[in-house]
Amino acid sequence: MSYSKDVINKVIEENDILEIVSEYISLKRSGKDYKGLCPFHHEKTPSFNVSQEKQLYHCFGCHASGNVITFVMNIENLSFKEAVEFLADKAGILIEEENLSGEEYKRKKIRDEIYSINRLAALYYHRSLYSKIGQAALRYLYDRGIDDKTIKKFGLGYSPVNGDDLVKYFVGQKYNIDTVYNAGLILKNDSGKYFDRFRNRVMFPIIDEKNNVIGFGGRVMDNGKPKYLNTSETPVFKKGKTLYGINYAKKTKDDKFIIVEGYMDTIALHQSGIDSAVASLGTALTIEQGKLIKKYKNNVVISYDADEAGVEATLRGLNILDELNLNVSILTVPNGKDPDEFVRKEGFDAFTRLLENTETLIEYKIKKYKQNLDLNNPTERIKYIKKVCQDLSSIKDKVKRDVYVSIVAKDAQIPESTIRTEIDRFVKGFKQNNEKIRYTVGNNRHNIKYGSVKKIPSLKYLIALLLIDNKLYNRIKSKIDFNDIDDELLRPVITFIVERLEDGKETNVNDVSFMLDNAKLKNEFNDIFDILYNGKEINEKIVDDCIKEIVKDNLNRKISRIKKEIDESYISGDIEQERKLLTQLQNFEKEMLMLKNG
Ligand code: GTP
Ligand code: MN
Repeated sequence: MSYSKDVINKVIEENDILEIVSEYISLKRSGKDYKGLCPFHHEKTPSFNVSQEKQLYHCFGCHASGNVITFVMNIENLSFKEAVEFLADKAGILIEEENLSGEEYKRKKIRDEIYSINRLAALYYHRSLYSKIGQAALRYLYDRGIDDKTIKKFGLGYSPVNGDDLVKYFVGQKYNIDTVYNAGLILKNDSGKYFDRFRNRVMFPIIDEKNNVIGFGGRVMDNGKPKYLNTSETPVFKKGKTLYGINYAKKTKDDKFIIVEGYMDTIALHQSGIDSAVASLGTALTIEQGKLIKKYKNNVVISYDADEAGVEATLRGLNILDELNLNVSILTVPNGKDPDEFVRKEGFDAFTRLLENTETLIEYKIKKYKQNLDLNNPTERIKYIKKVCQDLSSIKDKVKRDVYVSIVAKDAQIPESTIRTEIDRFVKGFKQNNEKIRYTVGNNRHNIKYGSVKKIPSLKYLIALLLIDNKLYNRIKSKIDFNDIDDELLRPVITFIVERLEDGKETNVNDVSFMLDNAKLKNEFNDIFDILYNGKEINEKIVDDCIKEIVKDNLNRKISRIKKEIDESYISGDIEQERKLLTQLQNFEKEMLMLKNG
């Protein structure tokens, strides 16, 4: 457990869910609640609901449910603890470091240590660049059109050729060399000798949004391989989690980010005055990177190389960004150049013009389908139509959609009306997803869904009911032996609630939110939040069904346990014991019969 229950409770209470969610999606009032496009799945008609009264959200499309903590965890891709800190920060609640457990305190210390080592290393490389040994590297950068001001701004550097200069530097600074090793900057050979990871490379410090130096990329200055080398994975550096240049781009006044592939593209664009560029470093854009973008902007232009790998990467990236409900457009740099080459040669104005002529996601996709499919071949033509119609079904603007319908109809040589019918089919498909679901009490452990009815395991259901109405406990307590419950995951939840109620305290979902720290429990809680949100009217029958299911489950377990014991006493020849157990078994079976009939 990371923070005390009280801290967590306070954090939930002081962050209004409506305000937090509104920072990410736009919500409209709808009856008592608020509605918007779900940030957790792709949709075109709003089915994401937020209740200010309950301080919960629920999506009727993908069934994401939760409170302000799970919302922040999911949308910011944070751990439980990070989400608590994030929200505490927003509400101006000071959470003291002493509130961290020993383990976490240690981890934070390690991270801080790596940050400071990286920072020192960056300064060291930067000084090397401007010293005698760095002359060739500096020339290399000048030749690529980078000026001193930009070199300083991005903290570029040079890693010496000797192979142990950095090791010596840190030893000289009285650093424990193992910590430097943990920062991913040095390597160890078979005989245990340390040496530098980066040698004779131009160094690019990678800086995160909080201005921490989290790692490095180092480029060779000739045709050596690998062209770029990165810091190895460390507790602070994970590939695909950050965007190069985000420390500057986050300050842009522009309403968008431009995503490019490489270090050099980012740097060249910033130098030319385009300060919204970030690089995904390598080709595949990740969801984490998408979420990082979304934290700052709703619009993004993607400008990858026009080679085959670049196009593939662009398409994958587009889908990731589109699913996060970002407005994406595509900028293709002419003549197979990358943004760095283009802006260096053609300048700021020319690049700005490219920015004014980007393609929309749909245009780009249609273009690519057409390039890859032979529209004279009937099978491929059908494929083309289906693919395009699915894409078009997501365009809400009728005029815009119609324009594409007529283009596609011409391309595919079929009537526009056929295209419209096909699009409608997909649109209906979306609507069906938004149908409301009814819940019933099911057998333990698994959710079962039949059409629009979902069976929720009785224990989960009961937990939700108790959190809605504490008074139910009086009806339940004489009937269920909570010690008998064998659900390893949910037992701590129900015992926690029962203990509070036994103490005569009230309890609600905020009190148990500290348990969201457990990833498996967080999953289970989704259903609990779901029931809480939909405020299923609590009737006698549902409560009785829950009780009955749980008692039945417990009884079943007792029966199979006793059967096993009977077998054992039979084998060992303990007749007395066997007879005793048989009587017990009969009683249990009678009880079961009554349960089933009653
Ligand atoms: P320049 O040739 O310096 O202009 O490189 P670039 O920035 O144009 O990079 P390129 O388009 O070749 O690759 C895009 C990005 O992919 C680079 O910035 C690196 O982050 C990454 N990358 C390219 N080559 C390698 C490699 O050999 N190893 C690793 N780990 N990453 C690479
Ligand atoms: Mn390049």
